[in-house]
Amino acid sequence: MKPDFLSPEFHNDPFPVLEWFRSNKPVYRHEETAVPCVSVFKYADVRYVCRNDNDFSFQGIANHDKPLVGGETLFRNPSVHTRMRELFDPLFNRKRIHWLDKVVREKSIELLNNMEHGRSVNIVSDIADPLASFAMCKFLGLDHNDSKKALHWAREVVQNEGYLYFRNSGYSDREERLDRVFKEVREYIIDMIDSASHTGENSALQYINNLHESNPRVVTREIFIDIVAILSFAGVDTISTVIGNLLRALLENPGQFQRLAVDKNLLGPAIEETLRYYGCVKCMVRVATRNTALGHEEINAGDTVLVWMLSANRDGDIFENPDRFDISRGATQHFGFGTGIHQCIGAMLARLVIKSFMTGLLENGYTMQPAGDDWLTPAQTPLAYGSSEIHVTLAHR
Ligand code: HEM
Repeated sequence: MKPDFLSPEFHNDPFPVLEWFRSNKPVYRHEETAVPCVSVFKYADVRYVCRNDNDFSFQGIANHDKPLVGGETLFRNPSVHTRMRELFDPLFNRKRIHWLDKVVREKSIELLNNMEHGRSVNIVSDIADPLASFAMCKFLGLDHNDSKKALHWAREVVQNEGYLYFRNSGYSDREERLDRVFKEVREYIIDMIDSASHTGENSALQYINNLHESNPRVVTREIFIDIVAILSFAGVDTISTVIGNLLRALLENPGQFQRLAVDKNLLGPAIEETLRYYGCVKCMVRVATRNTALGHEEINAGDTVLVWMLSANRDGDIFENPDRFDISRGATQHFGFGTGIHQCIGAMLARLVIKSFMTGLLENGYTMQPAGDDWLTPAQTPLAYGSSEIHVTLAHR
């Protein structure tokens, strides 16, 4: 099999292809990419690469040789990275972020109430996108009037970055678009810092600003800008996509939707099962730092290594009946948030926002049905697995 990982067919339904690779070619050297590139598909190999930072690094990735978001802080060698995580992990402490629960729930109900009941609505553009960008602006302390900008930037990154890893035709255009976004975001953040226009006592910006002011040699201005930029990109599209994926999975499995409506204790497990079954990250990237091997494949220093989280999460060696969506499965060892030192810093925040939204939906007795035969439009992006449109009719129970 010689699949086109950038084709609409693959974006629309990647699972049969991923299964074929897990069974037949678990470590695969790409022929179509302009840079040497290897993909790993099995759970054990994904885990091995992600947890072996000395051999498979975040530093040196495709476009990471120039200033980019994350380049000063988290996309560094393990020792710098660990110091940065120690500084910024406390931002996501449950006690620091619990206030968002009420705010997100109220916003969810407002958005749902504004929907025209009994008519077809697109829950991606009408609910998931505005909610995720609103929640991230609140968390960071950005003016929520800027949430459309935040969404636009996050989407530009998700839609373009993956093409750089494959570096095939048309990639320079993608690179230009990314450069433009990084520049815009940088200018926006510098302007905000200089004019002290960020808001919110509990906001992430306030926390990072305090770190910067109390210890400017450790949290330099560049680090300040960089961490705000990476946090403002990383949460918006991912949270929106997982809300869409969860609703999609429930709509495709109405029996499970019913179970959830009567037993809210299943909400946490349902979110975990979504991150496994329809995880929003298809694959992530590392660069080999030395000559080594994966399975039967020789790996050379400098090779790009794509780790397929979406595939690992369907690995039958780890998960029983992996292609079944089961909200009571209780499988927490999925890689929806990655694994190893780069495991998602915002996982707790993401879970909180998704749970607050779903609680608002379920407690207010909302139900939904797919609207028509073409209710679902898969997103066409190399790195993210989600839907660009999900049309439903909304009603009250
Ligand atoms: C459901 C939503 C989310 C999903 C599915 C998700 C997924 C992931 C995954 C798979 C990784 C690992 C990347 C790798 O190993 O290469 C990651 C890392 C990261 N995520 Fe998330 N993420 C989500 C939400 C968030 C939020 C809300 C934030 C911040 C506000 C965030 C910030 C980050 C950052 C900064 C990293 C890099 C961490 C490091 O290098 O130490 N993510 N995320």
